[in-house]
Amino acid sequence: MSIILAFDQGTTSSRAIAFDHSGSIIKVAQRELTQHYPQSGWVEHDANEIWESQLAVGREVLEQCQLTAADVAAIGITNQRETTVLWDRHTGQPVHHAIVWQDRRTAEYCDSLREAGHTDRVQQKTGLLIDSYFCATKLRWMLDNVPGARQKAENGDLAFGTVDSWLFWKLTGGKVHATDITNASRTMLFNIAARQWDDELLELFEIPKSLLPEVHPSSHVYGESQSEWFGTPIKLGGAAGDQQSALFGQNCTQAGMVKNTYGTGCFMLMNIGNEPKPSQCKLLTTVACSTGDVREYALEGSIFIAGAIVQWLRDGLGIIESSTEVEALAASVDDTDGVYLVPAFAGLGAPHWDAYARGTLVGLTRGTTKAHIARAALEGIAFQVADVLDAMRQDAELPIEELRVDGGAAANDLLMQFQADIIGVPVVRPKVIETTALGAAYLAGLSSGFWNSLQELSQVWQTERVFKPQMSAEEVATRRKRWTAALDRARSWEQ
Ligand code: G3P
Repeated sequence: MSIILAFDQGTTSSRAIAFDHSGSIIKVAQRELTQHYPQSGWVEHDANEIWESQLAVGREVLEQCQLTAADVAAIGITNQRETTVLWDRHTGQPVHHAIVWQDRRTAEYCDSLREAGHTDRVQQKTGLLIDSYFCATKLRWMLDNVPGARQKAENGDLAFGTVDSWLFWKLTGGKVHATDITNASRTMLFNIAARQWDDELLELFEIPKSLLPEVHPSSHVYGESQSEWFGTPIKLGGAAGDQQSALFGQNCTQAGMVKNTYGTGCFMLMNIGNEPKPSQCKLLTTVACSTGDVREYALEGSIFIAGAIVQWLRDGLGIIESSTEVEALAASVDDTDGVYLVPAFAGLGAPHWDAYARGTLVGLTRGTTKAHIARAALEGIAFQVADVLDAMRQDAELPIEELRVDGGAAANDLLMQFQADIIGVPVVRPKVIETTALGAAYLAGLSSGFWNSLQELSQVWQTERVFKPQMSAEEVATRRKRWTAALDRARSWEQ
């Protein structure tokens, strides 16, 4: 038997998933990752824990499958993006905790860059909006704040990488210092049109070039793992940032195809073909996974709070005991009876970008029950997704025929039906909703010959259910108008 192993190194856990040739999951192993919050707004991971937990789940899943390294055609890596690791090339030890994508410590520096007028140039080159979310300012912070780091970097003694790079380095015992192009595109140091590191940006952020990994396509043989990790070497067949991996795992390989992942927040990506078109609607332009020399780009919109609203109903309000109860509670009423919940608990992301917005619940009457609030919470997720989809439609000028969905909350039928209603296009849920890991498996499977073509993969991907829009256009317009009014009340609340 031959399998592909996907390593899914996420923000909260490290997972390893074994896929067979039909693209079905055989086994999954998972370990939680410790979150470190040294100061308000700071979020760190121990890079050694990232590595050790990833190695452990890799070994565990093989054991569960009763297979050995010889049965593995290749490993594909997918990872939390933007999280920044800096390590010593000689000892292989991180010089500091990894700074996680959510970390805001460089926000003020980013404000100063915007004020100095760098926004357009940075967007033009990287497709990104200047923000502490991306690697460049986190890496600069480490060089300036870890004693001796800048000097060592200038001497060529340090290596920088996103989590994929770090895992490649550890898996190969320091032989490979490389990253895939989708991860590179999230550093804010990478020119996405030229598809190479950008000297002007390196100068702007004061980053020595010697720190940077080599950039390769996502589906590429990066090397092989050292024998000591799994008994015999395993081919390392690909890598991609988790959202791009999910886009690929959803087989969104044609311009106009869109996926949305419903996790704690939502990440929506649309394939826009081979031109890195800059967004006019405050979305990001980013590199999508492709095979061979094909250039593919995507538009991306992030929503900060999606599934997290259900956790709030459970832990904050206590109106449900477990997250799975939300669907039945919401379905116990026909509609929200005019209640709207804008889940701007952490400000608003795309396409509004309002850090000062706050959560808002409007339309309450004496008749409002917890069921109405639960339903409004789910609808609030769908309305946010609709706003991002509109921005994509406008930016890309491409027709959107369906929305492919994955992530935990994609299992919620009521939410998916309402989503289809409010966006007016079918919502398609695949059989395997672990599409992030599936994308990494596809990438490694293609480079190792486990699968032969994108066409073969399009047969591996299968629909589980299609939710067709059922609401009248008039009703949709009324509801979206009310949502926009609720959104206006949430905006700039803290200012
Ligand atoms: O951009 C951040 C994203 O890649 C993190 O994803 O699923 O690990 O929270 P996740």
